[in-house]
Amino acid sequence: MAHWLKILSQEEAEKSDRHEIVVEGEIIAVFRQEGSYYALDGLCPHHQGPLAQGEVDGLVVECPWHGWKFHLDSGCYAHNQSMQHTTYPIKLEGGFLWIQKNPKED
Ligand code: FES
Repeated sequence: MAHWLKILSQEEAEKSDRHEIVVEGEIIAVFRQEGSYYALDGLCPHHQGPLAQGEVDGLVVECPWHGWKFHLDSGCYAHNQSMQHTTYPIKLEGGFLWIQKNPKED
């Protein structure tokens, strides 16, 4: 059975188009773009830059430290689609935003 974790109220989520949230000791970057929510590991795989602070263009976030770019929906590195950053299933339900941290364990 899927294990969903409540991370934000809808009201809190709607205050910004991005959030940096610690969930079970890990930093998660949450973005709201084009009417949908996306959740990625908040630390860039290059040198742990804070992805939640990056510029977003469409569905691509650019790490603020050295400019690596990642697709919000797939986690794929924009210049090398074979390299993939961790993403998490995310949903808005019952007035809260939820993510699944370990969907493959269900
Ligand atoms: S830390 Fe993100 S590009 Fe270097």
